[in-house]
Amino acid sequence: MIKAGQKLLKQAKRIIPGGNQLLSKRSEMFLPDLWPAYYKSSKGCVVTDLNNKKYYDFAGMGVTSCVLGYADKDINRAVNHGLKNGSMSTLNSPEEVELAEKLIKIHKWADMARFSKSGGEACLIAIRIARAYSKKEKIAFCGYHGWHDWYMAANLNNKKNLDEQLLPGLGNKGISRSFKNSIFSFNYNDIGSLKKLFSKHKGKIGIVIMEPMRFTKPKKNFLQEVKKLAKKNGAILIFDEITSGFHENLGGLHLKFKVYPDMAIFGKALGNGYPISAVVGKRSIMNFAQSTFISSTMWTERLGFIAAITSLNKMKKLKVQKKLVKFGKKIKKGWQNAAETSGIKISISGLDALPNFKFEYKNKQEISTYFTQEMLELGFLAKEAIAVTNAYNNQIVDKYLRAVNKVFRKINYYQKNKFKFPLKGPLKHSTLKRLTYY
Ligand SMILES: Cc1ncc(COP(=O)(O)O)c(C=O)c1O
Repeated sequence: MIKAGQKLLKQAKRIIPGGNQLLSKRSEMFLPDLWPAYYKSSKGCVVTDLNNKKYYDFAGMGVTSCVLGYADKDINRAVNHGLKNGSMSTLNSPEEVELAEKLIKIHKWADMARFSKSGGEACLIAIRIARAYSKKEKIAFCGYHGWHDWYMAANLNNKKNLDEQLLPGLGNKGISRSFKNSIFSFNYNDIGSLKKLFSKHKGKIGIVIMEPMRFTKPKKNFLQEVKKLAKKNGAILIFDEITSGFHENLGGLHLKFKVYPDMAIFGKALGNGYPISAVVGKRSIMNFAQSTFISSTMWTERLGFIAAITSLNKMKKLKVQKKLVKFGKKIKKGWQNAAETSGIKISISGLDALPNFKFEYKNKQEISTYFTQEMLELGFLAKEAIAVTNAYNNQIVDKYLRAVNKVFRKINYYQKNKFKFPLKGPLKHSTLKRLTYY
């Protein structure tokens, strides 16, 4: 019985274009007409929907933000204290300085930090500062970096330019034509594609922005070569760690790869679901924030800082990332075993702490929809990508893997016999080319 959520969604769609604020939280991305859609409460890794039905969250844990689990008691205690003492005032909150110090201590190559609330905003801040510093107009990019014009302008020349960069089919309506020819994509693990951009736009590219890793591991020296190439061409290197940060290790994933950029961007897991994002960078570059205007009232709000500080402390104290990697490995192995014993074909990729798999079939959209439908029946919010959380334990992961085994066997039955999958609603949308992003 999922009726209350879908009923509310119908109402939402009449008064909120698209029904909500984030593409990857739309019901159509999971199970059109049947997804619970709204939650009453979330705690640990359990989400309760509007009909009071409980589900284990194996579908991303708040779009990868809740590494420590939902409603973490330590974070909520600290945030409650902040609430009681005032979350806003005419003066600044001291936690802002404390968080800057913490992030700089973790990322020793960086000297300064700026803060905002969402990932996309933080990307815009980094781009503005980097452009002010480099005095060059053009940007080379790889991966997804939010919804702002500087990024979406990549689609002005060709609506399909962003198709290889996580979110295909984004179009180019409403983006100022004046940004045309300002941003160009290169491909991950393909240093030649970046070289080509530098030689085509001689002396005009001032910024290289990329995710250090999303699905596949960097080829040997790929990140080092990107760094070298950027430096040789007088461009600033920015690592967007909004999704990759704080899952595999405490800080940016680049620390693990030992390749240090000029600037790095964090969001999502930094505040464990509370709104906070950050840009850290070298002093010589970050100071250019002062040569332009980057300023917003709500960036001074206190609770985001408190949540981030408490998250960082707790992650460090409990060595949380070690646990995430351990469970991620277990889940990947469990998927593999389940696929082998049930006789279905999947391919597994992603960081251990952010693992994902793909059904290797032509009708994967149908299979994927069926997988989500059946897992929901068994009490799991599930798709082919997981953000491992500290709230998982062996018992919960085992329960999840037993459910996966069961559903994979059913998938094999329908697939092997070429039967139509018994879907109770429409297919999930395929706007997202790969089924694995957030
Ligand atoms: C790498 C990367 N950059 C930027 C963003 C945008 O962040 P937000 O959705 O918080 O604006 C995301 C979100 O998925 C992301 O994964």
